Order: sequence, then C-alpha cells, then structure tokens
Amino acid sequence: MSDGFQEWGFDTLAVRAGQHRTNEGENSEPIFLTSSYVFKNAAEAAARFSGAQPGNIYSRFTNPTVRAFEERLAALEGGEKCVATASGMVAILSTCLALLKGGDHIVASRNIFGATVLLFNNFLGKFGVETSYVPLADYDAWEKAIRPNTKLLFLETPSNPLMEIADIARLAVLARKRGCLLVVDNVFCTPVQQQPLALGADIVIHSATKYLDGQGRCVGGAIVGDAERVGKEIFGFLRTCGPSMSPFNAWVFLKGLETLPLRMKAHSANALELARWLEQQPRVKRVYYPGLASHPQHELAKKQQSGFGGVVSFEVAGGKDAAWHVIDSTRLISITANLGDTKSTITHPATTTHGRLTPEQRQEAGIGDGLIRISAGLEAVADVKQDLVRGLS
Ligand SMILES: Cc1ncc(COP(=O)(O)O)c(C=O)c1O
Repeated sequence: MSDGFQEWGFDTLAVRAGQHRTNEGENSEPIFLTSSYVFKNAAEAAARFSGAQPGNIYSRFTNPTVRAFEERLAALEGGEKCVATASGMVAILSTCLALLKGGDHIVASRNIFGATVLLFNNFLGKFGVETSYVPLADYDAWEKAIRPNTKLLFLETPSNPLMEIADIARLAVLARKRGCLLVVDNVFCTPVQQQPLALGADIVIHSATKYLDGQGRCVGGAIVGDAERVGKEIFGFLRTCGPSMSPFNAWVFLKGLETLPLRMKAHSANALELARWLEQQPRVKRVYYPGLASHPQHELAKKQQSGFGGVVSFEVAGGKDAAWHVIDSTRLISITANLGDTKSTITHPATTTHGRLTPEQRQEAGIGDGLIRISAGLEAVADVKQDLVRGLS
C-alpha cells in the first residue's frame, strides 16, 4: 500500500503512508493487540531470532500497528527511520542512552522542557554525562560551550513556554563542524510546520502525547532520523530495554496523523487571533508568540516554519497571584499542563511544568511568576477570549 509513497504530497502521506493492508481488505488500519508472533516451525523461529529472516518476534521489538505509525511519521519528517516510544521523555532518554557513554557531554538550550533538564542533570548526570546550558538563540554561547567530548546539541524550537526560536540550519552547520549530533525536539511545530531534518538536524524528537494525538488521549513519543543511528542503535536500545509504544496508543497516534495538517492550521490560526487580542489587554505585560510582528524572532520563524504553532504565552502584571486569578477565573479552558489538544488548556509554568526547577534556573530561563501558557484548542476563539477576560479585567 505504501510502496512508492515518496512521490506523494505531504497531506497524502499523513493519511496513507505506512499502511500495509491485510488480506481482510480493511480500509482503516487494524490494531494488532498481540504480544508475540507465531512461527511456522522451529527453523523459522531460529531464523527470526538470529536476524537471518526479517519479521515479527515479540511486540517489545516490533508490532505492525506501531510500525505503521513509525513509517508514517518518518515519511512526514523526511527521515529514513522512526522508532516509537512509550512517552516523549523516554524518546529523549533512549536517544541519550543509545548514543552516549559516561564522560560524554551535552550542550542544551536552557529553554527546554523542565523534565528534560531533570533527566539530563539528575539521571544522565549520575552516569557521568554532563550537560551545559546556553541561551537558545546565542550562537556564540553554543560554540563556546562545545568541548572535545561534546556529543549532542539538544534544543526545542519554538521553546516551551516562551516560544523562542533557534536557527536550526545555523546550529546544524556548527554541529557538523564540531563533530556533534544536532537533536531537535519538534513538539511545538510538528512536521506540518517545521522539518528539522531538512534543515540539517540529525535527530527529531516527539512527544506524540501532544499534537500527534491531538485529542489528549494517550502518552507516547518518537525518534526520527537515519537508518544507522535511529534504525539500528536507538532501535537496539529500545528492543533490549523495552520502553516501547503500545499498539493501542500507536493506533491512536496513527489516526491522529491523518488530521494533523488540518488541525495544525486551525490551532495556529486560533493562537494568532488570541495572541493579537492578548496584546491589546491592559493587564497583559507581554505576549510570546512567534506569529506576532513584535516577536524578536518573527522573521526567523517565517523563514524556518510554515506556521507558528498553537501555543501562546503571556505575562500578566501582578506576578503569581494575578496569574492564578486569571487561571482560576476560567470556566471553559481546561486547567491542565498538557498541550496540543482540541480543548484549549491553560497552565502556570512556574508552579507546574517548570516547578521542579530552582528559582535561579527559572529566572535564567526567563519564566516569571506572572507567566501563563495557553495551548489554543479548536473551540470558537470568541469563547476562549470571553473565558480569559473574566480574570483579566
Ligand atoms: C516540548 C516537550 N518535549 C517533551 C515532552 C515530554 O513528553 P511526554 O510527556 O510525552 O513524556 C513534553 C511534555 O510536555 C514537551 O512539552
């Protein structure tokens, strides 16, 4: 079914890539809820286990539904291989454990998801992998932070929650020059609006939990890149250590990918309208959204992305109390830290997603107490504004 899909357009890939229709003739992809696979005889079992014959053995290694999701996402990101994982965090962990060893060094943007900082500092740090942090768009700082033992450059662009942008192509040149791998967390844009591999990145990370699902149902992650590193080294880690994606979740994400281009367009349009409106509210000190002309990297965002994403952050006057008042005054928007859902969500990063960082780390990352993050859903924007105006007036 998906043979020759290289020629298809992006929207067709989102709907069709990775489908291998069975003899039942199903139109929608089936869910293979099976933990193991049956061999014709002992010789076939031996051939599969030795690798002499390709095919399924056990669902920790491969599963047809998971593979359909992996092939579809690889096609959308323009990567040779994708491996699906049980969460976005374990996609990052698997990449690091497969590709790094004790004594290696990571340079990361300081504007990354709070749990990723904890993963790098508290867990990789225990095994002798050290991480240095640099401001996302300070290219001199990236260059200076690279040491002879630096193996990975890691960033999110746009960043969570301040929607800062890094020039991926520029960092890819630096990574290549200094012999490092460039790893980009593409959660906020998805391949619909940004394709880091085409800009020179080596590996793309996803929390499928966000826009790939799109309706806030399942937790999952993915890693996309080349056949050697992702298809062999990272897949080898996953197969042995086991943080694999469940077939049911893979099916939910697979169906989510079919509507991803349409949803991303709608999320971005709603976020832009909300951001423009927030800029006019007297109690709002600053709005962070790359689609606004006031965003310091608006031009770079226009060049590198085909859309501006669905997340808008803003700072209200009055610090934490004022921010909590806005959040607690909502009746429609969901108070939850997840994002990328059809339902608009609102959160206070300083006490939720970034609450486990020290006050100094938060200050360095620019996450103030008055900051609120909204993930624009697919409701009528007028209703979302109405919901916010209660706490803002
Ligand atoms: C940018 C980003 N990367 C990674 C993650 C981790 O993903 P997960 O929650 O699926 O483990 C998140 C989760 O919120 C995120 O926002």
